[in-house]
Amino acid sequence: MRSKHLLIGNWKMNLGPAQAVSFAENLLSQIKPLAQTDVWVAPPTVSLCDTARVLNGSPLAVGAQNVHWASAGAFTGETSPAFLSEIGARFSLVGHSERRTLFGETSATVAQRAKAALDAGLTPVVCIGETEHERVTGVTERVLEEQLAPIFEQVSSAESARVVLAYEPVWAIGTGRVASLAEIQSTHAFILSLWASQRYAHEAVVLYGGSVNPQNFADILALKEVDGALVGGASIKLDQWLQLIQIAEQTPLIG
Ligand code: PGA
Repeated sequence: MRSKHLLIGNWKMNLGPAQAVSFAENLLSQIKPLAQTDVWVAPPTVSLCDTARVLNGSPLAVGAQNVHWASAGAFTGETSPAFLSEIGARFSLVGHSERRTLFGETSATVAQRAKAALDAGLTPVVCIGETEHERVTGVTERVLEEQLAPIFEQVSSAESARVVLAYEPVWAIGTGRVASLAEIQSTHAFILSLWASQRYAHEAVVLYGGSVNPQNFADILALKEVDGALVGGASIKLDQWLQLIQIAEQTPLIG
């Protein structure tokens, strides 16, 4: 559980540098003071520097959509955690389902990325979730356990305060099919129990992701097992993103 709600916008491969800057400037000019919500955005790599220049020093944090495990070297196309720190990035997503399914990332390398982010002072936002086939065949819990096992090997008790988990059922991402409140509640409870079994010094922070929008967000965030959301589509539509932030500001913090 966090002391504030956390909303992360995953811009995916949208908003090149010019559009990203104008989106960030519009966001800053329209956002109201934040009392109980942290707002983070993850632009595409090529737009990170420019977006960071606009948002660094503001209440909003900038981060990456992925990060490599090495700090430099022969890793064509990858992004060093040290370079991200240098431009003022504060976090990185790791293990987004699009990385896992389209680019063959494994839970083992996702955990290496998470560890490297921690070492560089970045918060890893570790994305986990089951496919539709896995849910209907009843193996969701086993899948989540397998995805988290290498994370548990890499993350120390001291580091456990700096990890964010994002539960994103693959079948709910970008589909408009949000998981039911009962599914979100029971799956988050399971993830919290897995984390608790590690006897870490700090409790798990678990966001929900998958077709979050201003119509469904208030009910999701009201669940005591949910710390916030990882948002794709609605995070690059300024009016919807501002509405989501407002909903978080109006939803009582629990715990
Ligand atoms: P969506 O994406 O909100 O567009 O479903 C979520 C995500 O991929 O993180």
